[in-house]
Amino acid sequence: MLELRDLVKHYHTAGEETVRAVDGVTLSVSTGEMVALYGPSGSGKTTLLLMVAALLAPTSGKVLVNGRDISSLSEREASHFRLQEMGFVRQNFDLLPGVTAIDNTVLKLLKNTPWKEAHKRVQPLLERLGLGARLTHRSETLSMGERQRVMIARALSTEPKLLLADEPTGSLDTQRGREVLELLTELCRERGVAIVLVSHDPQAAGFADRVLALRDGKLVDYDPDKGLAPIGAR
Ligand SMILES: Nc1ncnc2c1ncn2[C@@H]1O[C@H](COP(=O)(O)OP(=O)(O)OP(=O)(O)O)[C@@H](O)[C@H]1O
Ligand SMILES: [Mg+2]
Repeated sequence: MLELRDLVKHYHTAGEETVRAVDGVTLSVSTGEMVALYGPSGSGKTTLLLMVAALLAPTSGKVLVNGRDISSLSEREASHFRLQEMGFVRQNFDLLPGVTAIDNTVLKLLKNTPWKEAHKRVQPLLERLGLGARLTHRSETLSMGERQRVMIARALSTEPKLLLADEPTGSLDTQRGREVLELLTELCRERGVAIVLVSHDPQAAGFADRVLALRDGKLVDYDPDKGLAPIGAR
């Protein structure tokens, strides 16, 4: 499903030395598999996801999705890929202010689906995510956990087979975080969605099929003794 081959991203900042944000990552993720990726702040997690989402060009190496090289896509194909083929729960919320939960959820769908039909499609998903009573509440009136769940609903709205999630429980307490992880993994297992989940949340490991860590842009085996003891949730 997803294959990263010796992926590298070096940032060249004015006059300063090069930042080796991602420094040769090779990784395969199968359909329906969930990979949790840990790593300290600045270890390259978001940079890695941005390259998989075709939002950032690698310095070298390849991102293959179902055998297709993401960096060779035209602007139009890349846009279709981002809208239809993958979901991305970004680290910073990008909910539109002044817009309701359900209208924030249908944003991607509206490209190809009439408004009414889009609403009909996402409503069960929002209900499943516990937002049934918040559909018409404006985004800025929602709690952090609710906003996080709207982001997840939007990411899954087009039924992608690949989901990237950058700290989806970052702003939630342990209990809410677990609920979000449970829903996310349940929905993705049902739909055969491959997930790459970046997190600092020790609970995340318990939901993953595989746990890896990034250190200084390099993939290393996850070591629970280095301060991230997973809590068994399976
Ligand atoms: N546009 C950029 N230009 C220059 N350096 C950058 C840029 N974006 C990120 N970096 C640097 O690359 C490194 C990796 O950043 P990245 O955002 O991928 O880390 P992260 O693992 O997601 O961290 P966090 O857990 O804090 O979100 C950091 O040292 C960061 O300062
Ligand atoms: Mg990050």
